Amino acid sequence: MRRIQIINGPNLNLLGKREPTVYGNLSFEAYLVELKKVFPEVELDYFQSNSEGILIDKIQEVGFMYDGIVLNAGAYTHTSIAIADAIRSVTVPVIEVHISNVFKREGFRHHSFLSEACKGCIVGFGMDSYRMAVDAILHF
Ligand code: DQA
Repeated sequence: MRRIQIINGPNLNLLGKREPTVYGNLSFEAYLVELKKVFPEVELDYFQSNSEGILIDKIQEVGFMYDGIVLNAGAYTHTSIAIADAIRSVTVPVIEVHISNVFKREGFRHHSFLSEACKGCIVGFGMDSYRMAVDAILHF
């Protein structure tokens, strides 16, 4: 069975409550139930942390043994050279995901330190961005 790790960064534990006009009304836990039904043949593991170092620990932990990582690093996307280095340090493909279209938003969200280290990026399709990223790991 293929194993994919989904990692969400800061404030994404508040999906469903946080800025619903930007991120929608669904909690990630509720979305994950539906996502698992779409990929019954895949083990989808979920992890969330608000802390940069803990996100790096998780990337290192799974980054040599899973089939891929779907990473929404939240605001660390725009600030973290350390997470970018962690992505470069592991062997599994990492797909960068954003729920919102960051390019339609404030200028500081237009730059990602992570994109260059990732296999690809999926941006702006709401929660469906995660499904597309899982699909990308399975097919590319
Ligand atoms: C986000 C976009 C980031 O700019 C923001 O800081 C987030 C969520 C997204 O999924 O759209 O926390 O990564």
